[in-house]
Amino acid sequence: MTRKTGVFLLASLLALPAFAQNAGGPAVKPDLAVGRQLYEQSCGVCHTKPLVTSGRFGPALSKENLGGQADVMAEVISNGVPQRMPGFKHQFNTTQIRAIVAYVQTLDPPLPDAKPTARATGERRDDN
Ligand code: HEC
Repeated sequence: MTRKTGVFLLASLLALPAFAQNAGGPAVKPDLAVGRQLYEQSCGVCHTKPLVTSGRFGPALSKENLGGQADVMAEVISNGVPQRMPGFKHQFNTTQIRAIVAYVQTLDPPLPDAKPTARATGERRDDN
């Protein structure tokens, strides 16, 4: 092996961890900042109230939804809910969906509303 090849191989080895971080898969910690950004872009429109007085189309999301089960939440995000929520499996890859789930699981459930909610005025889903 020439000295040059040796240096090249060493450099490749040093670069490996950087690749591994972007490769996804269960061993890599989900990126909360990415999750938050994707959530705000794609989910907030239905799952967050912009103002205290405004309604919300979907339920508020937090670590308590779906029993806090990350797999179930990833499934709902991927496939959506018929008639109610679009699925995101064609828009986001599994690493991105895991990041969104990880972000939602940092959210505390909302405090009970003191004011009448959209649900009380009939704007929200009627089955819950
Ligand atoms: C078009 C509006 C809309 C968008 C956009 C949307 N959702 Fe939803 N989502 C809903 C509605 C409505 C429900 C309630 C469905 C039902 O009736 O069970 C729901 C349900 C859920 C649930 C299950 C909650 C529970 O406890 O049953 C999760 C988790 C969820 N959404 C996550 C997301 C995430 C994450 C995103 C963004 C990637 C997203 N949603 C984008 C409307 C939306």
